[in-house]
Amino acid sequence: MPTVLALETSCDESAAAIVTDRRVLSSAVASQIEEHARWGGVVPEIASRRHVEALPGLVARVVAESGVDLAAVDAIAASVAPGLVGALLVGSVTGRTLARLHGKPFLGIHHLEGHLASVRLGEDLPEGPSLVLLVSGGHTELVRVDGPGRFRRLGRSHDDAAGECFDKVARLLGLPYPGGPAIEAAARPGDPHRFRLPKGRVSRPGGGFHPYDFSFSGLKTAMLRQVEALTTAGIPLPLADLAASFEQVVAEVLVERSCRCALDEGLDTLVLVGGVAANQRLRALLAERAEAVGLGWRVAPLAWCTDNAAMVGVAACERLRGGCSSPISLGVAPRLALAEADRLYETQPCF
Ligand code: KG4
Ligand code: ZN
Repeated sequence: MPTVLALETSCDESAAAIVTDRRVLSSAVASQIEEHARWGGVVPEIASRRHVEALPGLVARVVAESGVDLAAVDAIAASVAPGLVGALLVGSVTGRTLARLHGKPFLGIHHLEGHLASVRLGEDLPEGPSLVLLVSGGHTELVRVDGPGRFRRLGRSHDDAAGECFDKVARLLGLPYPGGPAIEAAARPGDPHRFRLPKGRVSRPGGGFHPYDFSFSGLKTAMLRQVEALTTAGIPLPLADLAASFEQVVAEVLVERSCRCALDEGLDTLVLVGGVAANQRLRALLAERAEAVGLGWRVAPLAWCTDNAAMVGVAACERLRGGCSSPISLGVAPRLALAEADRLYETQPCF
């Protein structure tokens, strides 16, 4: 079983972990959230600088906590796509330098492949292909997984990602960044059916709608109109009901289209991963609806939903078992699609 040191710096969490196959020997995350919260969102230049400061200490910590020396790992891995270019570069350069220094293979990992792998830090997945609903701050995708590295995107958001929508609506409601946990906390005592909100659909050029695609811009506007109407009428904002109604409609739209897609594709298992997968209403609704239509389901363990390096390590171990490694001169690719993740292991670096 391979052991890897994995690094994650694609956005606003610096992270390192040592993983053996699917077992996390040590994991550390330094969140920059407090710093970005002052600006209401991630400031790329600040993110890069904080990664530079945090990463060496995190590596030292996971090495000490695991008791595994870098001389003893089988490979060193880092997220190299997609994400903020400056942020990705910090993990990539650190990983490649350590690999060179210790004479180890380097693996560039697609961050979304890491999220997909996070579910394997929990219960075993059933054999066979599955449909993964990947919901994070930057992505909302329905991915058919037919085996290691075999990904096909069947659905996506045409505007904001689900997490981004949580973050923007939180700001509208006067809640802090990141919006997901803030909305979830505010929504707890609320009535999720008080406000009727739209389940955005995406029109197809030839007529009808894309059955598995998402659009959150109409929902954002509807929330804005609702807040404006209440404010104009001099009514204090019913924060809990607004947050709960918003959370409910996002969860419904995600789960309904995912179930439809899995059934149409003849897939037996629906999997939920990514930062937004930490949302309890979404987790519960996915389990309930999947069971109602006879689908098996798995959700990533709560601890591994938001960005971390352990998930990157699990993805790296799988790639290593498949005989993959990246050229040491591999760069970063801020917009590489998941379906193209195999390109990270071509002999000639693709970027
Ligand atoms: O996967 P992640 O950590 O980073 C990206 O790869 O983007 O996801 C971060 C996103 C943020 O938009 C955050 O608001 C959202 O996940 N999020 C949540 C919750 N926890 C984090 N959204 C809803 N409910 C939560 N409990
Ligand atoms: Zn992520």
